[in-house]
Amino acid sequence: MTENWIEVGGLEDIPQLGSRIVQTSQGDIAIFRNSADEVFALRNRCPHKGGPLSEGIVSGRRVTCPLHNWVMEMESGSAVAPDVGCTPVYPVKVEGDSLFLSLQPSNDC
Ligand code: FES
Repeated sequence: MTENWIEVGGLEDIPQLGSRIVQTSQGDIAIFRNSADEVFALRNRCPHKGGPLSEGIVSGRRVTCPLHNWVMEMESGSAVAPDVGCTPVYPVKVEGDSLFLSLQPSNDC
């Protein structure tokens, strides 16, 4: 699979334990940064009722939806049990000072 990387700013544009939204042809994608400076990109729509995951609480590799507290695994895009659902995850990488995003989802959600 070839990924077409698009530059979407730098790591410093995302607050630690926060996110920023990138508007794409796939809809809004939230790029998260955790306390270890790992980055994750998920569609900004909770699989429960469409809550804005970008406004959720980041902890480790998980984000908690601000609406009804579903917890999402940011690597896989899957909800943590007992909740069931998933949201598309997109490849994202840091190179130098720049952040690159691919619009080819890495899961089957
Ligand atoms: S919309 Fe996210 S938990 Fe309900």
